[in-house]
Amino acid sequence: MQRRNLVVAIDGPSGSGKSTVARGVAQTLGLRYLDTGAMYRAVTWLALERGIALDATHRLVELATAAQLALSPDPGSPTISIEGTDVTSAVRGPEVTAAVSAVSAVPGVRSAMVARQRQIIGSGGIVVEGRDIGTTVAPDAAVKIFLVADPAARAARRAQQDAGGTLVSAAVESTQADLARRDTADSTRAASPLTQAPDAVVVDSTSLDAVGVIRHVVALVDKVVSP
Ligand code: DC
Repeated sequence: MQRRNLVVAIDGPSGSGKSTVARGVAQTLGLRYLDTGAMYRAVTWLALERGIALDATHRLVELATAAQLALSPDPGSPTISIEGTDVTSAVRGPEVTAAVSAVSAVPGVRSAMVARQRQIIGSGGIVVEGRDIGTTVAPDAAVKIFLVADPAARAARRAQQDAGGTLVSAAVESTQADLARRDTADSTRAASPLTQAPDAVVVDSTSLDAVGVIRHVVALVDKVVSP
């Protein structure tokens, strides 16, 4: 396996540290980076912007199929735009976060996104993060990681991230409840739910810092890539 053909799939629940790890691995190895969650978020942002109801599945599918999406593959500064608007920051807002599980559960939205994701992956040389990469989007990925962490650790990280780096303990509890709600929605939906691929390596980031997890994943990649 050559590095230019390599696909590293990183799946796992919200707040397990996927983005930090995926970007760090891509940067260390000189690979492209694809955040598939950002794609579902961008479609959700556009649906809210256009006043499309979250149960108007037909309209959501139309939007997901027709919208122009552009992503920068640079792990150092990933950006995403939809219909020409840069939504890199906007897609992290609470309105999008609250609505994205409903949009990403629609089978037609998923098939439109999966087709685009496969196109971006192309012949490889990329680290891809999401929920269904190892199972559905890139089942032949040479390295599959399923990243997990304790719910409390995930909530603390996410709350800190949302507050711009400061840990506000009052926010942790509501973040943990919100993560639990999204985990249930993402894991129980009918269309390609969040599940671990049978050949994925489970990495628990509860007591490892990002550098430790990145090192671990890079070591796994080194085993399958020829020098
Ligand atoms: O990773 P994230 O929080 O940005 O993902 C946003 C939402 O999109 C989340 O509710 C799960 C969903 N998602 C998905 O269903 N499949 C993916 N490959 C990536 C994200």
